[in-house]
Parts: sequence; structure tokens; C-alpha cells
Amino acid sequence: MCRGVILVAACNWWGRHSACLARLRAFLFLLFPLALAAHPCESCHPKEVAGYSHSSMARSLRRPGNEPEGAFPAGSGTRFSVHSGSKGTWQRMERAGEVSEYQVEYVIGSGSHAAGYLIRIADHLFQSPVCYYTNRRAYDLAPGFERISEPDFTRPVGEECVLCHSGRALHVPGTANQYTPPVFAEEAISCERCHGTAEAHLRRPVPGSIVNPAKLAPAARDSICEQCHLAGVTRILNPGRNFGDFHPGQRLEEAFTVYTRAGARAFKVISHAEQLALSACARNSRGRLWCGTCHDPHPRAAPTSQTYSARCQTCHQGRLAKSHPADTNCVSCHMTRRRAQDGGHTVFTDHRITRRPEPDGPVPQPEDLVAWRDPEPALQARNLALAYVNAGISGRSPAQIVRGYRMLTEIERAAPNDVGVLKGIGRALLLGKEPVEALKAFERVLQSVPNSATSEEDVGTALLESGQVEKAASHLERALELDPLLLSAATALQEVYRRQGANEKAGALGDRMRRAMRNSPGKSGQ
Ligand code: HEC
Ligand code: HEC
Ligand code: HEC
Ligand code: HEC
Ligand code: HEC
Ligand code: HEC
Ligand code: HEC
Repeated sequence: MCRGVILVAACNWWGRHSACLARLRAFLFLLFPLALAAHPCESCHPKEVAGYSHSSMARSLRRPGNEPEGAFPAGSGTRFSVHSGSKGTWQRMERAGEVSEYQVEYVIGSGSHAAGYLIRIADHLFQSPVCYYTNRRAYDLAPGFERISEPDFTRPVGEECVLCHSGRALHVPGTANQYTPPVFAEEAISCERCHGTAEAHLRRPVPGSIVNPAKLAPAARDSICEQCHLAGVTRILNPGRNFGDFHPGQRLEEAFTVYTRAGARAFKVISHAEQLALSACARNSRGRLWCGTCHDPHPRAAPTSQTYSARCQTCHQGRLAKSHPADTNCVSCHMTRRRAQDGGHTVFTDHRITRRPEPDGPVPQPEDLVAWRDPEPALQARNLALAYVNAGISGRSPAQIVRGYRMLTEIERAAPNDVGVLKGIGRALLLGKEPVEALKAFERVLQSVPNSATSEEDVGTALLESGQVEKAASHLERALELDPLLLSAATALQEVYRRQGANEKAGALGDRMRRAMRNSPGKSGQ
């Protein structure tokens, strides 16, 4: 008998006893995920559940298991080593006679190319500088750490990183890298990231009660994969939104806009959508070609070169020139694997389908930015302006910062209370060595968003740079009260103390932060 109070009516309607039990179990799973281990979709969609378990996306984030042992030197006298024991996995850093050791909390990346590591300290996530490269079977520095003179475990892992790599992260809005325990409601990427919430469907499992990407209009359909496969140069949130606010069925631009370089063809790791869009196949097939044309996230069998060739032939069969090579492995010639600009030590499939392989090597990086798809008209100038400021900051281009700043000052007149705009103005002014003006913008942000560690830090930093050290100290101290692991605020506060001549206080703060950052004092059992 089906006893679930809420479910009785629906069960009668559904009529079939076994399906009813399956749905009850599925519904209970939503309420008590840990109590019932079976997958909530398995009883009715066993093939999709089994198929998806083979996708690397289903293994995008996990707890460490038996990680391989290894060690490597990393320039300037640093050495990293990794060892696992019955109680977990540790990474050790030795530099200038000092040894520190960190316990790994999560492994990020299935390892098809590489695996990265996250450490957790008081519900804050930090990225390890260590990465495992599968093809070389060796540890080395993670992408982005290669050019840093003293790589360390201090890089905050923000919302964007885990948005792309996990099912559901419980990021605390307004913080850099703080999460509500248990940190992840779902660790690996789940069905719901592509199909949206399943509650309505579990109550009434019929076509149309859950998102089927293949049935959406092209922009909404593509948005589902683009939330993670289109990094662009920068991604700009709409006012008041978070990255997690995008839901399948919407266009990405309802939460944020992705900006890319106009006409750029640089091959990067997360540029599948950009490269594909450059292909003659995509440009000339009016929205028919999309990721799902070639990829089934829950395939019945592992895809082979035949699978892909068959996909090409859905459009090209019978149309190839007579002189064209007869070999049927289309991708071996038209979608080659090569090194990505930012990919570290591994190769990826170039999704730009070309007649002949592209030569490797640097390509021009135009300064102009364009929206991948435009947001609503009222946000177009705002989001573009912020994109210029962000891209200018991360790419060290003063020209882009100035361009974004000029646009922002116009926009501010029309939207004087837009916190994103004010922050952008403040950041641009701070870099332009106008700390007094930057301070005005940051103070207005703080008024709108009080009790935020990052708002306090921005005000404190602008005060410090404009020489008002006393006031800077109180704001930075407040930032650290709100978020004791906001490392950038601690660094600024140490500078304040030094300028005040309080070297002891600066030293004590340094010691306190070093102690706070230790997540595994002497527990490694070595
Ligand atoms: C009690 C059985 C049942 C459960 C549990 C169930 N589904 Fe379904 N689902 C169905 C039925 C029935 C259909 C319609 C199938 C058809 O028309 O071929 C369907 C259709 C779908 C579709 C296609 C919708 C469309 O409009 O094309 C998707 C996607 C889907 N389910 C996903 C899920 C996911 C994800 C879960 C788990 C969270 C899930 N289902 C759990 C029974 C179920
Ligand atoms: C929540 C983020 C996210 C979404 C949404 C997403 N992907 Fe992925 N995808 C990833 C990540 C991260 C990886 C790499 C996983 C790894 O190796 O750890 C990946 C890997 C893949 C792969 C590699 C091979 C494999 O094992 O499957 C393909 C193909 C792929 N995605 C296609 C798609 C398509 C098609 C869509 C849209 C229908 C999509 N992805 C949506 C994040 C996402
Ligand atoms: C915009 C989404 C996005 C962001 C942000 C992002 N990644 Fe990824 N990452 C991906 C996708 C998609 C892939 C798969 C690329 C492929 O297989 O071509 C990937 C691949 C990886 C891999 C290799 C996995 C494999 O296939 O073996 C690692 C490790 C990784 N990312 C770590 C990180 C870390 C750590 C961060 C944050 C500090 C991060 N990524 C930020 C989307 C993202
Ligand atoms: C990375 C994105 C992604 C993830 C994750 C994902 N799916 Fe899908 N799913 C799709 C796409 C895309 C389609 C449409 C396939 C098509 O018809 O081309 C689809 C279609 C479906 C359908 C309809 C199949 C049909 O015959 O029409 C079901 C059922 C389904 N998915 C169930 C699941 C279940 C259950 C999970 C989790 C175990 C899951 N999906 C995870 C992208 C995803
Ligand atoms: C949705 C339909 C579609 C699919 C699927 C498709 N193509 Fe195309 N492709 C086109 C169209 C349309 C053109 C434009 C030329 C034309 O009109 O014939 C094109 C052009 C090309 C070109 C010429 C490129 C150039 O720059 O001149 C190559 C090479 C090519 N396709 C290879 C492939 C390969 C390989 C696959 C599979 C991996 C594939 N295509 C899948 C539709 C498609
Ligand atoms: C025309 C066919 C085609 C389309 C469309 C396509 N892919 Fe691929 N994709 C491939 C092929 C072929 C591979 C290489 C598979 C292999 O080596 O096993 C691949 C590999 C991948 C990988 C694995 C990592 C790598 O670099 O080898 C990811 C991730 C991926 N695709 C994501 C996407 C996303 C996201 C989209 C949509 C923007 C997309 N693909 C559209 C054919 C396609
Ligand atoms: C051995 C390498 C090789 C393989 C395998 C291959 N191609 Fe090509 N293909 C080429 C070359 C080289 C050209 C460019 C010819 C030229 O520019 O004169 C080309 C051109 C094309 C073009 C554009 C010109 C035309 O003939 O219409 C298309 C479309 C195309 N290939 C599709 C495919 C498809 C689909 C497959 C798989 C069935 C495939 N190719 C397999 C090497 C290959």
C-alpha cells in the first residue's frame, strides 16, 4: 500500500503499484537523502542512471580515497609531497626549513585529465597548489600556480569554481570562500544540474513536468551546458543575483552574462562552446548543432570514434566531395586534440571543426569584449562595463579598466544604488591610484551591505591606501571579526600595524593566521 499522505491521490492517479512505491521512495529521498541510498530516478530511468554513472561529470567531486604517493620540487626551494593513510590524504609543503601539512578534504576533477585538491578550514575552502596529471601519472603544480614564486594553500575557492564542479555547493553569499556545513548538499554534478528541480516530476512523472534540454529553444538549451562549459573572459552577475541562481529552462542571462573576446580564437580548456560556435557547422546550421548533437550525458555505451562519425554524417552524408579522404574517422582529422593555452600538462579536443588542423602557437588576444548572448536591454551597458573592469584587472590591461570605468560612471548616474556598479568603480579607482575616490564608492557599498566582511575589507583597503591608517585598522579588524579567514584582509591589516609602528601586533597577527590555517596539526600519523 502506498501510505505517503501527500502521495495518495497521485498514486491512485498513477495506478500502478510498483511505480507508486518507486515514487514514494523517490519522494522520500528528496526529504531524507541519506536515509535511502537508492538513486531517486533509478526505479523509472535505470538506463539513464547507469549511463550517467560512466560520465566523468558524475565523478566531478569526491572525498579522497587511495590517492597515489608522490613528490615534486616546485622552484625556489619548495618541495611538495602527498601521502595517504587509513585516516586520509595529506599534502606536505617543505620550504626554507619549514614543514606544513594539510589534509585533503575533496578531490576535484574525475582524473580523466587531472585531479585538483581542496582543503577545508573552519568551513572555508582553499585550493591546493598540487595537481595530479593522469597522462604523466605524476604530481605537479596546478594550472595557475606555475608562475607564483611561493605557491601555497592560501588561494580561496570561490563560488564559481564549485559551481562548475559540484552538484550543489552551500556558498555563503557575500563571503569569498565560506560554506554552510556540510559544504556540499550534493558533491558530484547531479541530474538536477541539467534537468532542474525534480520535485514536480516526482509528484507527477509525465513528460513536461521536468526540463528536457533537447526540447528547449536553442538559447535555453545551450545555457544548460554553458553554465559550466563556457568560461569566457569573465562572467558578470545581474544585480542581486548569485551564480547559483541559474536554473535549467532559463537563459543564462537571467542570472549572469558571459563575455568573450571579440573574434578571439584562443584555444582554452573551458572553451567548448566558443570553439564550436566558430565552426562552419554551427554557423551554417541555424541552431541545430549543439553539444547534445554529439554528446549524450547518459550514453547506453561508451562513445567511440564511430559514434562521433555517425553524428557528423547526420548532416554530411552523401555531400562530401569525391576527392575527400575515404576514412570514416572524421574527428581524427577535423577535431584534433591539442594543448590548451591554460591547460597545464595535458591535451584537449579542439571543438572548432576545421578543414585542416589549426597550427599551434599564440593567437592575437583582442581587447574588445562581446556578450556571448546579450542580457535584457537595461543591463547591457552595465554588464559590459563591469566585464571590462574585471577583464582589465585579471588580464592586467589598464586600457580595459579605464574603458569600463568610464562606462560605469555614466551608468551610476542612472542606477546610483547598484552595489555591483559601485564595487566596480571602487576597484577601478583603487587600481588607478585614486584611493580617496575609491573610498567613497566602497563606503556606499558598505551602507547598502553592512556586516559583510568583503565590504569592510574594501573600505579598509581604500583607507589604508589613502593613508588613514587608524580608520583602516578598525574596518579591517571588523572584516576579520566577520570572517576570521579572510586572508587578504589579514595581510592588509598587518601592513596597517607596521605603518603604525606596531610590529609586534603585526607579528602576532601573522602567527595567529598561520595557526588558523593549519588544518591537520600532527594528525597524519607519519
Ligand atoms: C515513478 C517513475 C519516475 C521517476 C521516479 C522519475 N521519472 Fe522521469 N519520467 C517518468 C515518466 C513516466 C516519464 C515520461 C516518459 C516517456 O514519456 O517516455 C519521465 C520523463 C522524464 C524526462 C523527459 C521529460 C520530457 O518532457 O521529455 C526526464 C528528463 C526525466 N524523466 C528525468 C527524471 C529525473 C532526473 C528523475 C529523478 C530525479 C526522474 N525522472 C524520476 C517517470 C519517472
Ligand atoms: C554543473 C556543471 C556542468 C554542466 C551543467 C555540464 N557539464 Fe559537462 N562537464 C563538467 C565538468 C566539471 C566536466 C569535467 C569532469 C571531470 O572530469 O571531473 C565535464 C565533462 C564533460 C564531458 C567529458 C566527457 C564525459 O565523461 O562525459 C562532456 C562530453 C560534457 N561534459 C558534456 C556536457 C554537456 C553536453 C552538457 C549539457 C547538456 C554538460 N556537459 C553540462 C561540468 C558540467
Ligand atoms: C566555468 C566553469 C569552470 C570553472 C569556474 C572551473 N572549472 Fe575546472 N573544469 C571545467 C570543465 C568544463 C572541465 C572539463 C574540461 C575538459 O574535459 O575539456 C574542467 C576541468 C578541470 C579539471 C580536470 C578534470 C579532468 O577532466 O580530469 C580540474 C582538476 C579542474 N577543472 C579544477 C578546477 C578548479 C580547482 C577550479 C576553481 C579554482 C576550476 N576547475 C574552475 C569547468 C570549470
Ligand atoms: C550534463 C547534463 C545532464 C545530466 C547531468 C543528466 N542529463 Fe538527462 N538528459 C540530458 C540531455 C541533454 C537530454 C536530452 C537527450 C536527447 O534527447 O538528445 C537528457 C534526457 C534525459 C531523459 C529523457 C530521455 C529520453 O529518452 O527522452 C531522461 C529520462 C534523463 N535525461 C534522465 C536523467 C537522469 C536520471 C540523470 C541523473 C542520473 C540525468 N538525466 C543526468 C542531460 C543531462
Ligand atoms: C547539424 C549539422 C552538422 C553536423 C552534425 C556537423 N556538421 Fe560539419 N558542417 C555543417 C554545415 C552546415 C557546414 C557548412 C558547409 C556546408 O554548408 O556544407 C559544415 C562544414 C563543415 C566543414 C568545413 C569547414 C570549413 O571551415 O569550411 C567540415 C570540415 C565539417 N563540417 C566537418 C564536420 C565533422 C567532422 C563533423 C562531426 C564531428 C560535423 N562536421 C558535424 C553541418 C554540420
Ligand atoms: C560535432 C560533434 C561535437 C559537438 C557538437 C560537441 N562535441 Fe565535445 N567532443 C567531441 C569529440 C569528438 C570529443 C573527443 C572525444 C574523445 O576523444 O573520446 C569531444 C570531447 C569533449 C569533452 C572531453 C574533453 C576533451 O577535450 O576531449 C568535453 C568536456 C566536451 N567534448 C564538451 C562539449 C560541449 C560542452 C559541447 C557543446 C558546446 C560539445 N562538446 C560539443 C565532439 C563534439
Ligand atoms: C584523413 C583525414 C580526413 C578524414 C578521416 C576526414 N576528412 Fe574531411 N577533410 C579532410 C581534408 C584534408 C579536407 C580539406 C579538403 C580541402 O580543403 O580541399 C576535408 C574537408 C572536409 C569537408 C569540407 C569540404 C567538403 O568536402 O565538403 C567536410 C564537410 C568534411 N571534410 C567532413 C568530413 C566528415 C563528415 C568525415 C567523416 C565521415 C571526414 N571529413 C573525414 C580530411 C579528412
